[in-house]
Amino acid sequence: MNQTNSGVLRSVFYDLDSSKWSRTVCGLIFIMVIFAIKYSQKKPKKSVVKRDINANRKYGHWTPDYNFKTPTPPPYPNWDINTTRPQPYRAFRHKYSITMAIRNMDFHQWIELDNEWLKFHNHKLERTREKKQELCVTSPEARDAAFELLDELWNYLPHRYPSLFQQTPDGLSNLVTGESWSFKNGTKEDPMYIAAMLLQDDIAIMIEQEDGQYVLKGGAIMLAGFWRLKDKFNLPLSAIHTSGDVPKYKEKLQTGMEKFFIRQTCDKPVVRNNYFIQTDGNLPWSKSIGDEDKDVVGWYTAEPAKDINQLYFRSERQSLRRLPKTGATIFTIRTYFLPITELAQEPYVPRRLLNGIRSWVPEVQDYRGYTKFKDVVEPYLEKMADEQEAKGYTVETEPEVYPY
Ligand code: HEM
Ligand SMILES: *[C@@H]1O[C@H](CO)[C@@H](O)[C@H](O)[C@H]1NC(C)=O
Ligand SMILES: *[C@@H]1O[C@H](CO)[C@@H](O)[C@H](O)[C@H]1NC(C)=O
Repeated sequence: MNQTNSGVLRSVFYDLDSSKWSRTVCGLIFIMVIFAIKYSQKKPKKSVVKRDINANRKYGHWTPDYNFKTPTPPPYPNWDINTTRPQPYRAFRHKYSITMAIRNMDFHQWIELDNEWLKFHNHKLERTREKKQELCVTSPEARDAAFELLDELWNYLPHRYPSLFQQTPDGLSNLVTGESWSFKNGTKEDPMYIAAMLLQDDIAIMIEQEDGQYVLKGGAIMLAGFWRLKDKFNLPLSAIHTSGDVPKYKEKLQTGMEKFFIRQTCDKPVVRNNYFIQTDGNLPWSKSIGDEDKDVVGWYTAEPAKDINQLYFRSERQSLRRLPKTGATIFTIRTYFLPITELAQEPYVPRRLLNGIRSWVPEVQDYRGYTKFKDVVEPYLEKMADEQEAKGYTVETEPEVYPY
C-alpha cells in the first residue's frame, strides 16, 4: 500500500477515537473510492501487457500472433514526389568501429521514399526486363511471408504516401505511374517483385530454421551495387557475411546478430546505416568491381580511380522487423547515393569522412577497396577540410550529434 492510503487509514482511526462519525464515514467512502479506482485501473493494465506467445517457441515453429497490429502511420509531412529530398544520412564517424550499430525504429519510418522514387523505379523496371529471375525470388518457404509483407505495405503506403499510393480492393494503385498491383487475393506475379516495384528499397526475407539459423529464402535485390542475390540465396546469416569477407564477422558480429534475430519481437523494429565509397556512378551495380554477369566479382579486379569526379558515396539504411503472422524477418535495404564532391560541400563532412576512412583497420580497408580510391579521395578531402577549417568549421565546433 502506498503513502496516501496509509495516511488515509491513520486519519480514519484518529476519527474513530474522537467519535466524529460523519468524518469517519467520509474517510471510509474515500478508501472505497481509492480501492475502486485502483481495481478498475488494474484490469486494463493486465490486458495491455501482452504475453509473447512465441517467447518459448521451438526454433522454426512460429504461432501466428493475431493480436499484433502494426500502427498505422500518419502521412509523411508535406511529401511530394518532386520535391521531398532524400534523407541526408552521413553514417561516418571520426573513428570507424565494427559493431552491429542497430537502433530502435519508429514504425512510421519503416519505408522512406523521396524525389528519387521514379529514378529507382525506372532502374528496377529496366533491370527486371533483362534478368528478373536473377533479381527476385520467392521460395515456397517464403511465400506466405511475402504476401504478409504485401499486406503490411497495403496498410502502410497509402497512409504514409497518400499522393503516391491508393488502396484498391485487391491491391494498390500507383497515382504517379498508373500502375496497378493486385495481390490481396493471390497473384501469379512474384510477390517480391511487386514489393520491389512499390519501394526504392531492396528487400530480403529471412526465415528461421529448426536449428535457429536465419536463412535468406526470398528477396528482391535490384540495386545492391556490389552483391548478388544468386550468391546469397538459401544461405544462413553467417555464410552470407563470411562469404563476402565482412571484416571481423566471427569475432565481433556473429554471436550478437544471431541472438538478436532469434529474440527480436514484432514490436521492436530496428534500423542501421552504413557507408561505402564507390569508384563509379552506377547505382544498381558498381561496374568497377567487375561485370555483374561474371562468375566472380570483387575489388581486386577494379582499376584505381583517377579523378575525384568518379567517386560516389553509397550509404544504406537497413531496417529489420518481424512480421506477426508468419514470424518472418523482413530486411529492407534503402540506398542513398551521391557524388563525393557534393557530399564534401556539407559542413564538417570532409574532415570527419577523412578521419573515418583513415581509421579503417586493414581488414576494413580490404573489404571497402581502400587502395582503389585513397590516392584520389584523401588529398581532396584534406584540401576541402582545410578550407572549411579556415572558415571556422573545426572539429572543436562540430555538433556532437550528426545525422546517421
Ligand atoms: C543486425 C543485422 C545485420 C548486421 C549487424 C549486419 C552487418 C553487416 C556488415 C557490418 C556488413 C559489411 C558492410 C557494412 O558495413 O554494412 C554487412 C554486409 C552484408 N550483409 Fe549484413 N548485417 C545484418 C543483416 C543482414 C541480413 C538480414 C542480410 C540478408 C540478406 C545481410 C546481408 C548482407 C550482405 C549481402 C552483405 C554484403 C556482403 C558482401 O560484401 O558480400 N545482412 N552486413
Ligand atoms: C512532378 O513533376 C512532373 C514533371 O514535371 C509533373 O508532371 C507532375 O505534375 C509533378 N507532380 C507534382 C505532384 O507536383
Ligand atoms: C477473391 O477470390 C474469391 C474466390 O477465389 C472471390 O470470391 C472474390 O470475389 C475475390 N475477390 C477479389 C477482390 O477479387
